[in-house]
Amino acid sequence: MATPDPHHAPPEHATRAIVNLDLPRHRISRHLYGHFAEHLGRGIYGGIWVGDGSPHENVDGLRTSVIEALREIAAPNLRWPGGCFADDYHWRDGVGDRAARPHMLNSNWGDVVEDNAFGTHEFLRLCELVGAEPYIAGNVGSGTVAEMSEWVEYLTRADDSPMAAMRRSHGRDRPWSVPFWGLGNEAWGCGGGMRADHYAALARQFATYARSHGGNELYRIAAGANIDDYAWTEALMRAIDGLEPVDGAPRPFQAVSVHAYTHARSWKDKGRATGFTVEEWYTTLSNASRMDELLTRHSAVMQHYDPHGKVGLVVDEWGTWFEPESGTNPHFLFQQNTLRDALVASIHFDIFHRHAQRVVMANLAQTVNVLQAVLLTDAQTGAVVKTPTFHVFEMNRGHHDAWALDVDLVGVPSTRVRERELALLSASASTVGDSALVSLTNLDPAQDRRVMLDLRGREIAGFSARVLTASRLDAHNSPDRTEVEPEPWSDIARTDSGLDVVVPAHGYVTVKVDLA
Ligand code: AHR
Repeated sequence: MATPDPHHAPPEHATRAIVNLDLPRHRISRHLYGHFAEHLGRGIYGGIWVGDGSPHENVDGLRTSVIEALREIAAPNLRWPGGCFADDYHWRDGVGDRAARPHMLNSNWGDVVEDNAFGTHEFLRLCELVGAEPYIAGNVGSGTVAEMSEWVEYLTRADDSPMAAMRRSHGRDRPWSVPFWGLGNEAWGCGGGMRADHYAALARQFATYARSHGGNELYRIAAGANIDDYAWTEALMRAIDGLEPVDGAPRPFQAVSVHAYTHARSWKDKGRATGFTVEEWYTTLSNASRMDELLTRHSAVMQHYDPHGKVGLVVDEWGTWFEPESGTNPHFLFQQNTLRDALVASIHFDIFHRHAQRVVMANLAQTVNVLQAVLLTDAQTGAVVKTPTFHVFEMNRGHHDAWALDVDLVGVPSTRVRERELALLSASASTVGDSALVSLTNLDPAQDRRVMLDLRGREIAGFSARVLTASRLDAHNSPDRTEVEPEPWSDIARTDSGLDVVVPAHGYVTVKVDLA
């Protein structure tokens, strides 16, 4: 692993970033900072769930340190139980007396036997403890319409309907609030291998019976496209026929999703999570930046059918997907998480912020011990490690539900990475009340970048900055060594028109501005 030698950028090479603080554009939903936890590898079992007889500190079987960490980043929602697992999952197997629950085969992820210890009640208890809103993916691929309909009734019905009565017999009197409902997952692949029009028809049917009970208004999300399958998005948009119904919500589903992962090279050549080359640094970040094009083009298709933007776009799986770590079960998708992952996350958030008029939610895959996890747990000691990606989520908390501000960048260096031009500086900004937050990512592996923030429209009363970087591109955290965590950043100064900030090579800086 080469360690690049950073050089200070002379001011004449500075990038100018113009931000009109008094011209807020659209709301950045906190749900763009959502998470996804599937029954896969050590994500749930051994990650989130330790069981109530565990020596590891827990609340009702849920690992305390995971709950606390997810609270620290104000995790707004959590998608569960899959992923591919969702279309194999039969919810009745995961309720009632835990000892009596039937076992099942997790065919997608290692063909392991699953004992259903973590089911509906455990998931919703986790959401309550974290303060996250549940996003449940129902089973379309191998389930029935009645099964999905009854799960919704079980979860959200207040009276003495058959399913509400069953829930009570399992110890939960009040219904839960379940705002987000997925109509299957990846229906074009593991979720049933369907053609777009076939799935679109099924999504209409399942959505009809996934009812809103009492005050629980379901936001139904149709299983969307793989990466750049714009025809899939178009088929789903054609299937929506109630864009202007009486209650204002499109029918039969209110959003469509899309999945797009980041690999070092390609799906077939994912590359390693650590020990990568500088060339792979560039290809990975270039692949990540493609999210902008994907969202632009999916949104364009949606705009054609829905010019008033009533149907949401949900990126309910994103993040890095590298080769599994050697010595681990390859079907468990365990990978280390480095500074490179942190910058993949920070540039995704800049992109999500820009597209937040259409993009209403996003879910990083996957919360603990799987793919681009925010947390890793040590199998022996149970110690929990906050990954570099975790810290980006934490540093960006100020963007939750804030108003997006345009950032006009002038003089951005770029480099050619295969057929794409990769901008080496990424930025976004938002404001709420008397403060603004500016996020700046320097993708250059070796060169610091000076950014002249031209802050217009409001007076600056104060400022502070934080940085996330490390000496190596593949620096990461482990139970016995923390290499990447945020620190206060002092390479920032007041200028006549705003602030002069140095963003270190391969670094991420957030600037909090207090407004008069
Ligand atoms: O996140 C891992 C898997 O990736 C999910 O189960 C599936 O939806 C996607 O292909």
